[in-house]
Amino acid sequence: MTALVLGIDVGTGGVKTLLLDASGRVRATAFVAHPLSTPRPRYSEQDPANWWDGVVGAIAAVCEHAAVTPSVIEAIGLTGQMHGLVLLDERDRVLRPAILWNDQRTDAECRLIHERLGEAEMIRVTGKPVLTGFTAPKILWVARNEPEVYARVRHVLLPKDYVRQRLTGAYATDVADASGTSLLDLSTRGWSKRVLDALEIPAAWMPTVGESPAVSAHVSTEAAARTGLAAGTPVVNGAGDQAAEAIGCGVTQPGPVSVTIGTSGVVFAASATPPIDDSGRLHGFCHAVPGMWHVMGVMLSAGGSLRWFRDTLAADLLARAAATQVDPYELIIAEAASRPAGCEGLLFLPYLTGERTPHPDPHARGAFVGLTLRHDRGHLARAVLEGVSFGLRDGLEIVRDLGLPLTSVRSSGGGARSATWRQMLADVFDAEVTTVNVSEGAAFGAAILAAVGAGRYPGVADAVNDIVREGPMTTPGPDRVVYATAYPRYRALYPALARSFRDAADTGRE
Ligand code: XUL
Repeated sequence: MTALVLGIDVGTGGVKTLLLDASGRVRATAFVAHPLSTPRPRYSEQDPANWWDGVVGAIAAVCEHAAVTPSVIEAIGLTGQMHGLVLLDERDRVLRPAILWNDQRTDAECRLIHERLGEAEMIRVTGKPVLTGFTAPKILWVARNEPEVYARVRHVLLPKDYVRQRLTGAYATDVADASGTSLLDLSTRGWSKRVLDALEIPAAWMPTVGESPAVSAHVSTEAAARTGLAAGTPVVNGAGDQAAEAIGCGVTQPGPVSVTIGTSGVVFAASATPPIDDSGRLHGFCHAVPGMWHVMGVMLSAGGSLRWFRDTLAADLLARAAATQVDPYELIIAEAASRPAGCEGLLFLPYLTGERTPHPDPHARGAFVGLTLRHDRGHLARAVLEGVSFGLRDGLEIVRDLGLPLTSVRSSGGGARSATWRQMLADVFDAEVTTVNVSEGAAFGAAILAAVGAGRYPGVADAVNDIVREGPMTTPGPDRVVYATAYPRYRALYPALARSFRDAADTGRE
């Protein structure tokens, strides 16, 4: 029998599936896109039914690509976008659209939680201040704004855990994803009774929380009939997408720091103790490696800024890419590369959906600053790439400030595929940037967790040592000199513009 494990990533853009074979090689991947809706400014929602349909489709597709039947899969690892709120009633019906990680509607509820429990206490217990994207303030938002929905809630789930519920019938999650709810006690790796009580959230609504590689439940007969998986196939707890991505990059212990450019942009470092940044700029989470934690800085629109650029300013490139079957981002990055580093003074602030690290501000906005008649679209494209790179450097600077070890920077995600962008990252960070042998993201990490759960490896670090290899290194080049002066100018912009962003939010009200 072919020994394959399956990783499923319930992402923001779509569902990705990946089959990993017994020698740790990726046999096939598949992707099924799903829509996102923005019913009001600062809102971001999805229909969980679309995730489940996507999962069913992406399991069929990945098995077709690998020419196997789903029933040969021996274990499944789930991962997905973090922080999203899914509410179910007593018959497991979805009560309202899921509110996503990049939704910014909850500033009043964040303030309320800090008033009730104190910001310092929330940082001490949950590893970070409460921010608009996290799950707990969303639960309060529903309580305050949709009381008729709230009255029917029986289960609170994160996005990938909704898929688990459909696959197995179980209500379960993992410590890494649970850390993003603002309801988990980081030291005990269990739900915080104190926080739940203070927010009047019944503990019975919360899923069982366990370590990432442990088996949470098994595929039900009903799900087997829908997916072709064998009933009884074990499903491990899995991990939130950032911890799973870090597993896939081999970041299982302190030293290497990963930088991931997907829709969001993430700086991630492992820690052997519960990490607390009293200033609240970097956020502490449980890692998907049992007994480990991690810190994370997240910018909300990294690849998302480039997608915005593609869709609003580069429709012709999008069409050319489709006609010539190349990736439109390659064309955009090539245009950007033809303009000089520093864009002749033009800077871009990538806060298109507000920001989290280092400026926790739901009202922050994007901006091009320093335009002249000389600037054309190539400059704009380059400024976007540079602005995102500066934003990631902000996260790395905090890792450095906190004195966490930083032996190498490993880049991953869509952004890391471009050699031009990797060089820019090395230049902006003034640090060596490496990649790893597989760039399949969180689905790859989830499959590794499934392989551990299936007993193929004694632990996550053993699996990673066997499967993940560090790839070629990019060293900083001459452009680092330009960025050494551009970065402080970038840093000065947010404080100078924060007030205008606030005013813009007030006038555009929403
Ligand atoms: C992590 C976060 C995002 C989502 C996107 O804290 O908010 O990276 O997980 O998938």
